[in-house]
Amino acid sequence: MEKVISGIRPTGNLHLGNYFGAVKSFIKMQDEYECMFFIADWHSLTTHPTPENIRRSVKTILSEYLACGIDPERAPIYIQSDVKPVLELYLYLNMNAYLGELERVTSFKEKARTQPDNINAGLLTYPTLMAADVLAHKADKVPVGKDQEQNMEMMRLFARRFNRIYNVEYFREPQSFHLSDHAVKVPGLDGSGKMGKSEGNAIYLCDDEATIKKKVMKAVTDSGPTQLNQVKPEPIQNLFTMLELVSAKETYDYFNDQYNNMTIRYGDLKKQLAADINAFCAPIRERIAAFQSDDDYLARVARQGAEKATASAEKTLGEVREIIGFRK
Ligand code: TRP
Repeated sequence: MEKVISGIRPTGNLHLGNYFGAVKSFIKMQDEYECMFFIADWHSLTTHPTPENIRRSVKTILSEYLACGIDPERAPIYIQSDVKPVLELYLYLNMNAYLGELERVTSFKEKARTQPDNINAGLLTYPTLMAADVLAHKADKVPVGKDQEQNMEMMRLFARRFNRIYNVEYFREPQSFHLSDHAVKVPGLDGSGKMGKSEGNAIYLCDDEATIKKKVMKAVTDSGPTQLNQVKPEPIQNLFTMLELVSAKETYDYFNDQYNNMTIRYGDLKKQLAADINAFCAPIRERIAAFQSDDDYLARVARQGAEKATASAEKTLGEVREIIGFRK
């Protein structure tokens, strides 16, 4: 079975956009591939988070991904910093990664521009650490967003270069599995565009009923259709796209017919949508809360994940040491 690995950057709570994007793909991939997921806490150090920050975000990610359906029995989920052999591979890869090519990476240039006081070496070598994350397990496929394509190209370059330098065919080139090609795009309810944390329009999986209702009732609408069966303008289409994601087909058809015959009342649609989003999120929200309050279980999941990932990485590193000329 092909191996899949993906790193999760600790960036706050999951929202519906994440759910129907990356998370649902991860859940489905568990059935089709040998999957491993990890929380990229080493990578997060580039921005110097506090210890409390790290502990909280790691716990949040673990709880939320488990609540969404990552099954740690089938797909180990581990914390990057628990799997030390990856660091050793990071060092080896860094010896064959050149300053010029690392400096040319777009996300590095972007970070260097936006945080000029903190252009650290970790930021520069972000692509080698990411390559080590994946190559340490000799994974075949990496589910990533399009924004990660350059890092994926660097990863393949480092794999090829290692093979060439040591005249071996050891690492294979991991392929990108573009999540956006498989994901449903979740719109924001603020008129246009997609749902996102930075867009400030996100409905989070952990939002309570009142918060969901408040957010949905605020959704942008217009003064209503003026012709029978007219094409829906974007803010209205966005509401219907949400209905399609979380409501029963009859609910969607009911409001769609009302829109088409110009009898729709957006207030009614929003109330129904808020109720359906809540019904969708409630069981996930309850599981998040249950995991959040079960530190023992979270610790067990992380430890089991770390054991499996360490065994897998240690096997690779033994072989790599030998190839390089070190003791296995
Ligand atoms: N760079 C990825 C992101 O920003 C996170 C990540 C770190 C990752 N290491 C990885 C993803 C290895 C896939 C594989 O989202």
